[in-house]
Amino acid sequence: MINEKERALKAIKDEILGLVSSPLYKERIKNKYFPVIGEGNHSAWIMFIGEAPGENEAKTGRPFCGRAGKVLDELLVSAGIERKDVYVTNIVKDRPPGNRDPLPDEIEIYAPFLDRQIEIIKPKVIATLGRFSMQYVMSRYGLEFELDSISKLHGKVFTTDKFKVAPLYHPAAAIYNQHLLDTLKEDFKVLKNL
Ligand code: URA
Repeated sequence: MINEKERALKAIKDEILGLVSSPLYKERIKNKYFPVIGEGNHSAWIMFIGEAPGENEAKTGRPFCGRAGKVLDELLVSAGIERKDVYVTNIVKDRPPGNRDPLPDEIEIYAPFLDRQIEIIKPKVIATLGRFSMQYVMSRYGLEFELDSISKLHGKVFTTDKFKVAPLYHPAAAIYNQHLLDTLKEDFKVLKNL
């Protein structure tokens, strides 16, 4: 039987599927892509928030299933966290063309869906992956005065009245950078201890 949570998450999916007002909608149709809504445990203690789907993600409709996803999986394993226990999503739910950064307008269109996902899943910890989700989550949830560059904030933990926020580097940045991968592994240990 479908419960309230499932119903609310399904409503988000349906709205995004019909989001013709998004400038990324026509890209979705043109390329036969899927929107990437989010995936994982609907009562997860921790939610990971990336930037926007890459090509593999848009082709499958699944978040972090390509090369950056392999790095994320490796980081989860290294911290002893199981992917089935977490929820993984992005701010922007459709793929920006050519892997470019999401534009402010696009973040504005999709962020309310992310806010609703947070409200439904109620994670105790939000781990932001990369600077876009860090900037959005921290400014949206009362941590705007703490904002700084990701090189200063990664691995720290901030507290809001709803959840803790742990800004992390984006796993894609560690694909060819062993030093950054080691840093991410250290930062993931912090998550496990929360
Ligand atoms: N990068 C992201 O930010 N999100 C994904 O889902 C995949 C790659």
